[in-house]
Amino acid sequence: MEFNIELQNRVQEIEKILKQYLPQEVGFQKTVVEAMEYSLMAGGKRLRPLLIWESYRLFGGKNKTEIEPFMAAMEMIHTYSLVHDDLPAMDDDMYRRGRKTTHVVYGEAMGILAGDGLLNYGFEVASQAFLDVTTLKKATQAFMVLARKAGIYGMIGGQAVDVENCDRPMEKDKLDFIYQLKTGALIEASMMIGAIMADCTDAQLKKAEEIGKKIGLAFQIQDDILDVIGDEAEIGKPLHSDEKNHKTTYVTIFGIEKAKSLVEQLSTEALDALHTCPQENVFLEALIQYLIYRKK
Ligand code: IPE
Ligand code: IPE
Ligand code: MG
Ligand code: MG
Ligand code: MG
Repeated sequence: MEFNIELQNRVQEIEKILKQYLPQEVGFQKTVVEAMEYSLMAGGKRLRPLLIWESYRLFGGKNKTEIEPFMAAMEMIHTYSLVHDDLPAMDDDMYRRGRKTTHVVYGEAMGILAGDGLLNYGFEVASQAFLDVTTLKKATQAFMVLARKAGIYGMIGGQAVDVENCDRPMEKDKLDFIYQLKTGALIEASMMIGAIMADCTDAQLKKAEEIGKKIGLAFQIQDDILDVIGDEAEIGKPLHSDEKNHKTTYVTIFGIEKAKSLVEQLSTEALDALHTCPQENVFLEALIQYLIYRKK
């Protein structure tokens, strides 16, 4: 099947799962639930749940229902990171996923709470994987990876160093640290969770993390590029957010052309790492290639 159609089908399937796991908009607290749904169902690329699924398939996983709580949780946690990233105290952006940002529509306090809500509910959803005693051990391991890579040794840690370093020049090694954490960590976690749930070996888990690390760095560099030369309508968020916030990025250090070639190089390295696995996943290969030239 053509890659684009297959991608669309998978994204639709993921959206179905997300809807299934969303909380009901009832009770006195229903505004916060509405705000959670507003940001979550706005139509992101769903890359991270997709990677959980594809990594799971790569390592021979056959029972998709056992990864669904993690796919939903990952997208909720990722979405919370975006809601908070857009807040006035952080990047102060007004558009996301083609809509006004959550804090613009619901107010800042509700934006903060909707992010908190997605984070907490994400972990609640993931913990449903513990109910099956036959898969308890691997579900626990996957949960721990999710918690660590979303936290101070992962996404939150990266965002903290990011906000602390705007308005000042930065060396490439610190920038790489930020990228690996703020963006790479959840992508690594996605590859790892899929692998763990497919009963991978320790060596395979390392491989999954390595592939995720390359994809993650390439993904953030491409995000930097699109911030400068993207099409606002297509990416669904404002251009020049990095410039506005005086961020050092791969584009400010290397320029667009060199940044582009680094995206290609890192993606080739991800594919090379993937090819060292005896298992094969043709769709995942096509996805990594597709991401090099993504326009959104
Ligand atoms: C945006 O992530 C933030 C980064 C980590 C670069 P995505 O580009 O995956 O955003 P969505 O989920 O498609 O909206
Ligand atoms: C943020 O990076 C990554 C997150 C953890 C949210 P950016 O600030 O560059 O992400 P965008 O461009 O706003 O999506
Ligand atoms: Mg940011
Ligand atoms: Mg931002
Ligand atoms: Mg960006």
